[in-house]
Amino acid sequence: MLISLRILALAGTAAATVLDLDSRQSASQITTVDLSVNQGTPVHRASGVLYGVPNTKNQIPSSFYTGMGFNYLSAGGAQFSSRGWIFGGYTARFQDVLSNFQTARQFGAQFILKMSDLWGTDGTQGSSGVYPGVNTNFTQFDAFLTQFVKDLKANGMTSNIKLQIWNEPDLTLFWGGSMSEYLAMWSHAVNFLRANLAGVPIAGPAYANAPSSSNTWWTSFLSHVKADGTAPDVYAWHHEGGSTDVNNDLQTSQPAMVNLLNSYGLHIGEFVIDEYANTGEQNPSSAAWWIARFERFNISGLRGNWLSGVNLQDFLSGLLWKNGSTYFANGEWQVYNYYATAMTGHRVATTGSTDRRMDSYAVVGTNVVRILVGGRLVTGTYSLHIKNLSALSLPTAGTISVRTRQFSFAGTQGQVGAPTDLGLASHTYSGNVLSFLIFQTDTVTTWSFEFAF
Ligand SMILES: *[C@@H]1O[C@H](CO)[C@@H](O)[C@H](O)[C@H]1NC(C)=O
Ligand SMILES: *[C@@H]1O[C@H](CO)[C@@H](O)[C@H](O)[C@H]1NC(C)=O
Ligand SMILES: *[C@@H]1O[C@H](CO)[C@@H](O)[C@H](O)[C@H]1NC(C)=O
Ligand SMILES: *[C@@H]1O[C@H](CO)[C@@H](O)[C@H](O)[C@H]1NC(C)=O
Repeated sequence: MLISLRILALAGTAAATVLDLDSRQSASQITTVDLSVNQGTPVHRASGVLYGVPNTKNQIPSSFYTGMGFNYLSAGGAQFSSRGWIFGGYTARFQDVLSNFQTARQFGAQFILKMSDLWGTDGTQGSSGVYPGVNTNFTQFDAFLTQFVKDLKANGMTSNIKLQIWNEPDLTLFWGGSMSEYLAMWSHAVNFLRANLAGVPIAGPAYANAPSSSNTWWTSFLSHVKADGTAPDVYAWHHEGGSTDVNNDLQTSQPAMVNLLNSYGLHIGEFVIDEYANTGEQNPSSAAWWIARFERFNISGLRGNWLSGVNLQDFLSGLLWKNGSTYFANGEWQVYNYYATAMTGHRVATTGSTDRRMDSYAVVGTNVVRILVGGRLVTGTYSLHIKNLSALSLPTAGTISVRTRQFSFAGTQGQVGAPTDLGLASHTYSGNVLSFLIFQTDTVTTWSFEFAF
């Protein structure tokens, strides 16, 4: 008896009926689901990957792509065999990019083309790096842009694509010039592309740092593009900082971006985060936390990639590994699989805990509610409050049987199968709210909760 109770406790559903939850939990530890607020059809916005796709077509079996809901790829041939324009390796690198683009199209995924990779500044350029407009003129860059535009047109790469002019220019690893030289290059490239590839959207500035009114790369960029009419079609930035940085969170950056665009009088269009989650955050629990954030803000997200060299363009950005040439899914892939394939119906509103470390994503399907919870590298006792059960024609008080599925993790290179079904636990509820505890006993395992109505 004691043993079975302990197992249930780890499943996050134990003994909730005998606890006075609200007296034990502060708002900082509560994530909520409001069944009465329909947020529309899910399109699993967090199912994008940065690199992660081999240049050899069909090397990764298609079930791994469809199973994680693959819908966005960002790539430019970085760190592969060829080295880009400035090293005389443009033609081969373009073929790598074309292959990646075709794989994206095969799965109906959008593609972000990282032009600075094709140029050759992919983080490996070192002191051999050459930066357009820095200590020189734009003659070479114009030759590159001319060839690039010609190749995009010749290969049908003018739809399902966004052009990212430069990756992370706010880091010296990727941009060796000054900020004003970067801004001049930006305008030069935007004007060239708009003149020669009208209608193909430009995504940027793809800064490593999230938008903030105290970040001069952002404020200078916005005033510059406002002044000369070179604003990107889609605003892109990255979320690869640590889990304790309050700015490394869409809950901070999305409203900050909206406020900045309003203050500079710029159009608020689509936002895309084409790198999210640093290496420590690539596990089932943190993945679910990020998923909840992307769904709440309706922003597309592409998983960061912490491999390098040839492995950079493999393994769907840390979701797979292989034994010999046989791919297998790790525990984090199983979260994306559940998210993309089981969580159908309509999304409902959720809120994260006020300590920003626990969140939930929920859908109402055909006679079943599915809720995925996720903690951001945290342990402790949290609780889930599911409100407005009457919106599903359930009584405002009674008993509900909740099924728990556990998503385990054995590391990025550890094979993990489908989530473990921990069975049903019965919860009584009242006041139109069903509540139970989430025992987050480690930083990587997470759970989904399901109940029928
Ligand atoms: C611009 O740079 C190119 C080399 O990339 C050089 O051939 C050309 O003379 C330069 N033009 C001017 C006006 O400096
Ligand atoms: C996200 O989309 C839903 C459905 O259209 C909408 O109700 C919600 O307000 C949106 N959220 C944000 C932050 O824009
Ligand atoms: C890798 O594959 C080989 C051959 O099928 C098998 O014998 C071995 O057990 C596998 N290793 C792992 C870790 O799965
Ligand atoms: C949902 O529940 C909240 C209280 O938890 C209540 O204030 C709100 O009116 C409810 N919404 C609907 C549509 O019943």
